[in-house]
Amino acid sequence: MTIISNHKCVRICQNRTCRKQGAVDVLAAFEALSIPGVKIMASGCLGHCGNGPMVLVLPDTVWYSGVLPSSVTLIVARHLLDGRKEGRSDGGKE
Ligand code: FES
Repeated sequence: MTIISNHKCVRICQNRTCRKQGAVDVLAAFEALSIPGVKIMASGCLGHCGNGPMVLVLPDTVWYSGVLPSSVTLIVARHLLDGRKEGRSDGGKE
């Protein structure tokens, strides 16, 4: 049996490079917002070190790079609540 979930998951890299770029505060900003049906997860390296803090929204596979804590409310409002995917869906390559 296959279970299909409509729930989204936001992964915020907490690995060394992204942490130096402020990923701890970005994770805290996502966690501070209660978003119905959205799971917020700290993540290991997402493979785009240096472009961080990196955020990946699944199952959309949309990437956000250089995320600031002040950008989190906008990402949540536009992408997670309104469905406007304004990040990159090409794997986050610059
Ligand atoms: S350290 Fe964050 S993507 Fe590698």
